[in-house]
Amino acid sequence: MFPRVLWIAVTIIVLFCVHTYAQLVSLVCLGCLCEVSTGCNITIGCNNMVCGPFSITKYYWEDVGKPPPMGESSSDDDAFHKCVNDLYCAGYTVQAYMAKHSKDCNGDEVIDCDDYVRLHRLGSAGCNNSLSSDYENKYKLCLQTFERK
Ligand SMILES: *[C@@H]1O[C@H](CO)[C@@H](O)[C@H](O)[C@H]1NC(C)=O
Ligand SMILES: *[C@@H]1O[C@H](CO)[C@@H](O)[C@H](O)[C@H]1NC(C)=O
Repeated sequence: MFPRVLWIAVTIIVLFCVHTYAQLVSLVCLGCLCEVSTGCNITIGCNNMVCGPFSITKYYWEDVGKPPPMGESSSDDDAFHKCVNDLYCAGYTVQAYMAKHSKDCNGDEVIDCDDYVRLHRLGSAGCNNSLSSDYENKYKLCLQTFERK
């Protein structure tokens, strides 16, 4: 069903994020944001303005204070590319974005992954809008597959 790479990605996120950032976005949710964005492809690089396995823009990264990647960076552009192409730094960026913008986008009176996926895809101002059905279906299938109730 889902490629093994998602499990690898989720494991990496578990190993690195648990100790460094409050787990606002659950690991399953984070893994599914990665999955719906690019199939959690860690070698995807940049397409137009959107980079890395979570499809993060420079604006999104700047909005949460430009989380630094490991090691030196020669410029902001370099730091951006290194961060969002690295699962740990990209996962941190997503957590920080959700911590900053967390809200009830779909008006169901809980703030959960259904809101985070909208915030991630549509941004803070537009997150009350609908996702494309293709994106929404991929997201739902991923959550169903990995959620343990
Ligand atoms: C990831 O993206 C790269 C670049 O687009 C592509 O060549 C590669 O096949 C993709 N990997 C997977 C596992 O889909
Ligand atoms: C989303 O919210 C904006 C501003 O509050 C509003 O103008 C827009 O109509 C809303 N969109 C939907 C689909 O409800």
